[in-house]
Amino acid sequence: MSKQRTGVLYGVGVGPGDPQLLTLKAVQVLEQVEVVFAASSPKNGYSLALNTAEKYIPDTTRIVKLPFPMTKDAQVLKQAWQENAALLREVLEQGQDAAFITIGDPLTYSTYGYLMETLVQQGCSAEVVTVPGVTAYHAAAAKLNRPLVESEESLVVVSGVGEPEEIRRLSAFSNNIVIMKAYRQFDQIVETVESLPIPCTMSAVSEIGLPGERVSQDAADLKGEKVPYLTLCIVKRQKDQEE
Ligand SMILES: C[S@@+](CC[C@H](N)C(=O)[O-])C[C@H]1O[C@@H](n2cnc3c(N)ncnc32)[C@H](O)[C@@H]1O
Repeated sequence: MSKQRTGVLYGVGVGPGDPQLLTLKAVQVLEQVEVVFAASSPKNGYSLALNTAEKYIPDTTRIVKLPFPMTKDAQVLKQAWQENAALLREVLEQGQDAAFITIGDPLTYSTYGYLMETLVQQGCSAEVVTVPGVTAYHAAAAKLNRPLVESEESLVVVSGVGEPEEIRRLSAFSNNIVIMKAYRQFDQIVETVESLPIPCTMSAVSEIGLPGERVSQDAADLKGEKVPYLTLCIVKRQKDQEE
């Protein structure tokens, strides 16, 4: 008896929220797979990735929401990855192709990496194909009509959930800093950038491509406000200081 074929896992980036920012390749994969898995909130089942990609998924395709808790508790996270990876593995081992959709790019601050790792730990040997997506910071730079990097410049991408003082250290050697997940310590991040010895501009963009989209050329305008989870900042050192 021949061994059943294992399905292919596609990790698909669906862009930051505007359904027009999916790539042709992402749409093609969503049209062809048998099952679409989407990370969702364990509280209310909401999935931004699914909302973004929904119109490209045929009615006949099975959709499975995978609850991923927003917590730092390593044990809780590990358990969620293991349970969700097991659901994916089951489908792949039945010979079905599946897509795991993520917001932005799947390899940039995404649960997809942990999921792939867990699948390997669980002994899953399925072929994995990653389809890159437009990152939120590329969409933000486009909204601002501002280059991210030019000429000999450098760019670092950091998580705003870390220590805000880290931004001071990074600003000493990078011309541009993208701060993802800026929501949690927004005011401290703005204050850190304001206190840098090198003058910088700092813009903030929230909910790009979504009904609540907000673009602030000067992030300081939002100080004191509760900014949404989908907020990122772009810090740029002033050019004349570098020459
Ligand atoms: C878990 S990360 C996901 C990043 C995503 N994989 C990417 O490639 O852009 C979540 C963070 O991405 C940023 N983000 C994602 N979508 C966004 C949007 N539509 N508008 C603004 N920021 C967004 C925010 O900084 C948010 O806190």
